[in-house]
Amino acid sequence: MAVGPDLIEMDGILGNNEIHVWHTDLTAQEAAIDRLFPLLDHPEQSRAARFLVPEPRVQFILSRAFLRIALGRYLQVEPREVRFRTAEHGKPELAGAGGLYFNLSHTDGTTAIAVTRSGRVGVDVERVRKNLEPVALAARFFSQKESDWLRSQPAERRFAAFFACWTAKEAYIKACGSGLSIALDSFGVIPQPGDGELNLQTYGKPEDSRRWSMWQLDLGPDLRSAVAVEAVNCQVRLGRWPAAGAKI
Ligand SMILES: CC(C)(COP(=O)(O)OP(=O)(O)OC[C@H]1O[C@@H](n2cnc3c(N)ncnc32)[C@H](O)[C@@H]1OP(=O)(O)O)[C@@H](O)C(=O)NCCC(=O)NCCS
Repeated sequence: MAVGPDLIEMDGILGNNEIHVWHTDLTAQEAAIDRLFPLLDHPEQSRAARFLVPEPRVQFILSRAFLRIALGRYLQVEPREVRFRTAEHGKPELAGAGGLYFNLSHTDGTTAIAVTRSGRVGVDVERVRKNLEPVALAARFFSQKESDWLRSQPAERRFAAFFACWTAKEAYIKACGSGLSIALDSFGVIPQPGDGELNLQTYGKPEDSRRWSMWQLDLGPDLRSAVAVEAVNCQVRLGRWPAAGAKI
């Protein structure tokens, strides 16, 4: 299905067949860190204190506060009351809130969260970097089809193309929640121009592919993002939160 209408208000109203993806510009929220830190629970605050470098610490605190505020709206509880548990491979899940799935991703300056009732969900956002060798990395980690596709792209577009493919693969891995125990060349996703639905192929297990929906999302210049959900006949909706210029 196509990408649905943009989300405007984070009012917690979520249709049964919808995946909501909210993204925020973290740099615009840095001044709010002292106000947002108390929203984290003690394990999160302890984890924040263990970061040695300020940038990832700030990114973690703001992202967790953003996640708690957002999930609080969907669950109709205060942000501090949102309770997490950690699944086997480290994926955070909601404790005792059957039926609501979420996932979070952060990259330099941006966080995205996906929320749905439809099924397991994964989201990934990456800022396009040019300090790597896309063709060599794809040959090493991607499936043959993805690697061939990347090589077919014009040289100047290969960095963005690499991250488009990377985020799509990562969204699926994160939805499954089993980390890198899934072989990266056991499935493939070929990015398409613009926003829109992607076609996941799980090689040798086509019936698995048919259970999944996946989209690539435009979160801004130099960002590549994708979301994957274990459901069909659903639509993804995208929202920037808070609105441009506003504070959390
Ligand atoms: C753990 C993993 C999710 C890290 O992903 P990442 O791209 O480095 O980081 P992201 O910002 O997208 O996601 C991190 C968030 O995902 C969530 N997360 C953690 N473990 C997770 C898991 N096993 N599954 C799904 N989500 C997970 C957490 O909310 C985490 O944020 P937090 O640490 O602030 O709580 C995992 O997929 C991984 O190790 N990937 C390695 C990268 C790689 O080789 N990818 C191959 C793509 S081709």
